[in-house]
Amino acid sequence: MTNNNMYFIANWKMYGDLKSINSIINVIKLSKKLKYKKTKIIYCPPYTLLDQFVQKTRKTKIYIGAQNCHANKDYGAFTGSINPKMIKSIGSKFVIVGHSENRNSGDTNKIINMKIKSCLNENLKIIFCIGETLKQRKNKRTNQVLNDQIKKGLKDIKKINNIIFAYEPVWSIGTGIIPKLDDLENQIKKIKFFVKKTYKLKKSIVLYGGSVNSKNILSLRKITSLNGFLIGGASQNSKKFIDIIKKTIN
Ligand code: PGA
Repeated sequence: MTNNNMYFIANWKMYGDLKSINSIINVIKLSKKLKYKKTKIIYCPPYTLLDQFVQKTRKTKIYIGAQNCHANKDYGAFTGSINPKMIKSIGSKFVIVGHSENRNSGDTNKIINMKIKSCLNENLKIIFCIGETLKQRKNKRTNQVLNDQIKKGLKDIKKINNIIFAYEPVWSIGTGIIPKLDDLENQIKKIKFFVKKTYKLKKSIVLYGGSVNSKNILSLRKITSLNGFLIGGASQNSKKFIDIIKKTIN
């Protein structure tokens, strides 16, 4: 892998209860070892556990993020929703925006753009998910779809230093299928090139997400242009998560 920081982001989705907090103890221990100095571990538990995770990881090198947020930057009558202000107020530093599971349940590029702006307003860092469906891929529309998601998601945003891109092909999420290594490497390079050209950002951070596990990480780690991984299923088990980190770094 490269000499840059490597990101390992745990997306717990709608899993976890108060007891699951203990499962991160070994990950905290690991993060303290010198060898993992350039490793950035970010836990994104459900909202109900955010505060506990923030408390547990205080004075450690592990960061906490939310999995989503409401688009409104202010408080308001939105039953069941949480805005970036609230996320920040409890000490969370990151927010996942644009995950395909949320795009599927109604998040348009316009809503995603509003969410990103509201998060930036609070100085939160954004894990901005982009990805094509299988149908779009088969129709050779991948580049067009990804560039469109980036452009519309970041509309009217000038400073994009606080954005981490997560390329997550929809057909890879939770399916056990990952792209061919060459294809993935090319796609990552294309995303980086597009971001560089469009936003004059020399070095963007681009992660891969979709069925990353402790077996396929041995292949995925060979992609030198990648800056890390967004991990769903395998991150809920700390042994598997640690295995992925160790195999990437060692
Ligand atoms: P997965 O999920 O690793 O379970 O495929 C990744 C994600 O949805 O971020």
